[in-house]
Amino acid sequence: MALTRIPAKITRRDEIGRDILLIEFSAEYLPPWTPGAHIDVEIPGCGLRSYSLIDGDYQKTYRIAVKILQDPGSASLSIRDRFHVGTDVDIYPAINRFPIKKASHYTFLAAGIGITPILSMLRELDGSDAAWKCHYFVRSPDQMPFIDELRTLADKANAELNVFVSGETGRQSLAELFEHEDKLEAVYACGPTGFMNEAADIVSKRDGVRFYIEDFDDQRTEVAGEHPEPVCEGETAERISPNAAFEVECRASGHSFTVEPHETILDHVRQILPDYPTSCEEGVCGTCEVAVLGGIPAHRDQWYTDEARADGGRMMICVSRSKTKKLVLDL
Ligand code: FES
Repeated sequence: MALTRIPAKITRRDEIGRDILLIEFSAEYLPPWTPGAHIDVEIPGCGLRSYSLIDGDYQKTYRIAVKILQDPGSASLSIRDRFHVGTDVDIYPAINRFPIKKASHYTFLAAGIGITPILSMLRELDGSDAAWKCHYFVRSPDQMPFIDELRTLADKANAELNVFVSGETGRQSLAELFEHEDKLEAVYACGPTGFMNEAADIVSKRDGVRFYIEDFDDQRTEVAGEHPEPVCEGETAERISPNAAFEVECRASGHSFTVEPHETILDHVRQILPDYPTSCEEGVCGTCEVAVLGGIPAHRDQWYTDEARADGGRMMICVSRSKTKKLVLDL
């Protein structure tokens, strides 16, 4: 098991814009999260769906915003009809695959409800030296629930906030928008898939620009039973002492390396996959989680339950090591 189900209760439900609901989940203990994080929520009749966190009370509540789509059978309609204050809902701990990385200048692209992870990032940048610009695309003025706070953050940071209301005229072309944009360093985008594909296409033609997206279709959080048991035979069964060097085979990319006692697996993975997502790098947030295909991990994180550790099928590569001479990872 990778993530532990959390029985939560809905303690707030507000309509914060046309067809936009704010939902607050409360539980006895909710793991801390970092800007850009999301949670998975069990939606009746639809299974798990991912939602970016807007904010919450430390370890007590998570808050999300949901755009209600009028498609019959959609998760958002189920939320509208079945999630009320007092409803019991199963959720999963926050995980961050869209963390904000250090940069001197950020460009944020948000479409519709895609503003939610961007908002938490802008709050994080509040008071920092980083410069930023945010392009926010909405259908109508009554679907911008966080606009006052965005304007306040932009004023404080002396940053540029451009709001594009498409209405019936269609969305502003990103190609035109970027045509005269010469200051691109780190670009973060969140919105519908077509929007992010368009952004990726444009940004990929610029040299040296780091581009990050939140795409829940591509990045489903894996939960219990969705990964194979690790194989332990040969070197992946040979036990070593706790701090000894060990071999890592990255099955998907074909890379192998040795992790010395003073190194982490992440140190090496960074050289192979420079944009590999991490956040806390202390084994707390769950962002760097990897599936283990062979060998036995020596868990040193504070993320997993004892039950999840015993399973051994996943690990946090920022801190955890190996109990066997070799680990095979799904990287
Ligand atoms: S980066 Fe947070 S657990 Fe590894």
